[in-house]
Amino acid sequence: SRPEIMENLIGAINKIQDVFNALKVPNSIELPQIVMLGSQSTGKSSVLESIVHRPFLPRGSGIVTRCPLVLQLVECKMDNRKYRKEENGTTEIQEWGEFLHLKDEIFSDFDLIRKEIEDQTDRLAGNNKGICHEPINLKIYSPNVVTLTLVDLPGITKVAVGDQPEDIEDQIKKLVMLYIENPLSIILSVSTANTDIANSESLKYAKRVDPEGDRTLAILTKIDLMDKGTDAMEMLSGQVIPVKLGIIGIINRSQHDINENKTIDEQLMDEKAFFEKNYKEIAHRNGIPFLSKRLSELLMNHISDSLPNLKLEVANKLSDYQKLHDACGEEVKDRDKIIVGIVTKMTKFFSEIIDGKCTKKITDVKA
Ligand code: GDP
Ligand code: MG
Ligand code: NA
Repeated sequence: SRPEIMENLIGAINKIQDVFNALKVPNSIELPQIVMLGSQSTGKSSVLESIVHRPFLPRGSGIVTRCPLVLQLVECKMDNRKYRKEENGTTEIQEWGEFLHLKDEIFSDFDLIRKEIEDQTDRLAGNNKGICHEPINLKIYSPNVVTLTLVDLPGITKVAVGDQPEDIEDQIKKLVMLYIENPLSIILSVSTANTDIANSESLKYAKRVDPEGDRTLAILTKIDLMDKGTDAMEMLSGQVIPVKLGIIGIINRSQHDINENKTIDEQLMDEKAFFEKNYKEIAHRNGIPFLSKRLSELLMNHISDSLPNLKLEVANKLSDYQKLHDACGEEVKDRDKIIVGIVTKMTKFFSEIIDGKCTKKITDVKA
């Protein structure tokens, strides 16, 4: 089926990117990805955590996200043995994270994932509240996610506080623009329901780089915080600001919920109940589960559109690497031969999917 083929394709692309990263091939392949865009405290991190069903991101006031976080979500199927842990007769599904900068280290404690993001942020961006363009790459394997690549960025901000550099606004603007200008990015523009959407900074930014709105999806957080008597129906129906790809309402955990240790799964149930009670007619196309599904669809369509170019790029990168490898002459190490073998296999697999000839699954391709 088409969704299955596309899911395989995202898997193949992720693998190819990993191999090129490991090879340190300069300017690795650029892949379609989803970029979080919004002002500070609009709920970007909360949305990412809700999508993963787990809290794992640093929190706090001020600019917490100071370098891009490239988050690759990998859906694990229940029937895959690798992800199962049998204990006392019950079967548990494993969820874990892996950082690109920490090869071979598995994080099954999500609090330690948060700690590592904080530490790596300090290493990359310094602990003086500056920002940095170099990304942190994190992969999360879980049965609760759909396979997606999302990028969390520093929030758009207007004022420097404390010991932040005075040009912090410009620095963040440059970084944000770098990601959203890229035609391969789908922009997830986050605004809050309890402020005037017409003044949304994120929608202004999105409009600048994607005037036709072909790759912008809007989300409206904090629907629960709207004044009594007001209604988000008009906004959620696109009557206030039309967004071609749609506007999705979201309710994340409030600060009070977090302090009271409310779980994300409890929140997801409450979100569903809230939409069914207050926005019955449109409940099915709002909320985190619908957002995940919609993002996966959009990403797949976007990848599908980018395939011809992507295929060419993979072929070029491989030939670059082979040239590099040939230049080593007799000295070529066995390891290099193995790596070229892997990339060749992956590229063949990738091409077969693109040409619709592939019957295998990505998990069948062995290194
Ligand atoms: P970010 O700066 O955009 O990453 O925003 P955060 O995800 O850190 O959220 C900022 C604050 O808003 C936190 O205290 C969240 O608990 C709260 N928050 C986020 N989304 C919602 C929501 O939908 N409803 C309510 N009531 N609070 C929210
Ligand atoms: Mg954040
Ligand atoms: Na915004």
